[in-house]
Amino acid sequence: MGKGAWIAGAVAAGAGAMAWMMRRQPAAGFPWHRNHVGEPPVALITGASSGIGAEFARQLAAYGYDLVLVARRAEGLQILAGELESAFGVQVEFLPADLATDGGVSVVEARVRSLDRLEVLVNAAGFGLVGRLMHADPEKQQRMVYLHVMATMRLTQAALPGMVARQRGAIVNVSSVAAFLRRGRGSVNYIATKAYINVFSQVLQAELRGTGVQVQALCPGFTRTGFHETAEYARFRREQYPAFMWQTAEEVVRGSLAAVGNGQVIVVPGALYRLLVAIMRMVRV
Ligand SMILES: NC(=O)c1ccc[n+]([C@@H]2O[C@H](COP(=O)([O-])OP(=O)(O)OC[C@H]3O[C@@H](n4cnc5c(N)ncnc54)[C@H](OP(=O)(O)O)[C@@H]3O)[C@@H](O)[C@H]2O)c1
Repeated sequence: MGKGAWIAGAVAAGAGAMAWMMRRQPAAGFPWHRNHVGEPPVALITGASSGIGAEFARQLAAYGYDLVLVARRAEGLQILAGELESAFGVQVEFLPADLATDGGVSVVEARVRSLDRLEVLVNAAGFGLVGRLMHADPEKQQRMVYLHVMATMRLTQAALPGMVARQRGAIVNVSSVAAFLRRGRGSVNYIATKAYINVFSQVLQAELRGTGVQVQALCPGFTRTGFHETAEYARFRREQYPAFMWQTAEEVVRGSLAAVGNGQVIVVPGALYRLLVAIMRMVRV
């Protein structure tokens, strides 16, 4: 290829990336209109004891959704359930489960199948690990793959028959901007499992065309939650990264819900991260 063609290709790629980054999200119409007859719809949220999952619970309760909250820490779920019931007058059930295990997922899967008012499923449960794969604890790696891949896939599958029959539903799978990386020393399975979530959500949305069910892979950048407060991140300091790189869970969840139903599967909250993702897609870092 000649030099001119390379330059033209680079300019076209750059223009395409800018257009993708700058595009405005059309009005999504979420929460969907309902005629207030009968009981309210239900949202089931995993990872609801903290961070992004807990924020989905707050914002969906404010929209009038009854909730089922899932995580391992029953106490945190119970406290949040009480707060949301008194603040918004919604019904909140909590279901403690370890979603990195077959047994834990089976319990939640059964609950998903039994919810005849399920309108929103949020798969937010997740965690990070630090360290090169060859030195890593295989059990922790396996738990991550099970939680990010198997739990997301199984709960999504369990939600589909009811949502498709009712011709309405939203499934938000929480991924990460890390999904776009193709390098990242110490994060092999985090990047690979988040990339799975993106591809899974895109292919599933194509399969579900015309059913009224929306699938989203939500890809946040750095977000102030409990994520970096585990023993795994003992050496991590938020100050290593400038303040403008940190988003709140509130901003991330607003960005997600604003995009439900607008046709976008990959949703990256924040202009800065949309720019970074556009660059990552171009140069394949
Ligand atoms: N914070 C960030 O910078 C960031 C950036 C990009 C993507 N994300 C993604 O956002 C999602 C939510 O994370 P967060 O930032 O909100 O972190 P967080 O505050 O640590 O919340 C993680 C949630 O996942 C739950 N969880 C972890 N392991 C679980 C298991 N085995 N079974 C059931 N629940 C489990 C935790 O509850 P229990 O401990 O009670 O089980 C907690 O509710 C994750 O998927 C993460 O990868 C985060």
